[in-house]
Amino acid sequence: MVLITLEGIDGTGKSTLLSALEDSLSDLSPVFTREPGATWIGGQVRRAIAERADPLTEALLFAADHASHLSSIVRPALAEGRLVISDRYTDSRYAYQSATLEGIIPDPLGWLRAVHDGWTIPPDRTVLLVLPVAEALRRKAGAAVPEHFEEATLLERVQKNYLRFAEEEPSRFLIVDAGRPAHEVHSLVAAAIRDWHGSLRSRRQRP
Ligand code: TMP
Repeated sequence: MVLITLEGIDGTGKSTLLSALEDSLSDLSPVFTREPGATWIGGQVRRAIAERADPLTEALLFAADHASHLSSIVRPALAEGRLVISDRYTDSRYAYQSATLEGIIPDPLGWLRAVHDGWTIPPDRTVLLVLPVAEALRRKAGAAVPEHFEEATLLERVQKNYLRFAEEEPSRFLIVDAGRPAHEVHSLVAAAIRDWHGSLRSRRQRP
């Protein structure tokens, strides 16, 4: 019944953080999930990224993956009263695709929000990992084949978008400096998730 999302540009250490959270939050039995997902639609999204599909095709595939993610994992888990923690979610679309669609369609962010309107489930809380783009790219430098999103000017725009969303919704977002040591980032985020889970759950259980 509580939906928490983790967001940030590539290279901010989300994967390291997630595997630490899997251990430290195991007593809450969270459902850990991600976008793009592990379904066949998620597979098509990864193929579109690898083959550099045009930005509109890519955006619509990411949105289709979100619909499938909601129906197969998020909605059923929330209905069972579970804590759901998603590695990327709608804000990834709003931050990345509003940058990739710039100059292709008018008002990309407005369009992306309209595409999700009426069926998406907004996250209760969002952890935003923030790191200077140069440092994030340095961390990704070892990756075998960089994805086309891993490019400095694009990531600058994406991070700026994320920070704007956080400014617009300060009560939903927790901004975390991903340049801090990994164990500090982990204990800070784990404590925040415990706190949110406790308070949101008791608020929702009240008659
Ligand atoms: P990942 O590296 O977290 O697996 O995500 C794959 C890439 O896809 C990453 O560069 C972020 C990007 N992405 C989008 O552009 N839009 C989206 O909606 C999602 C979920 C990911």
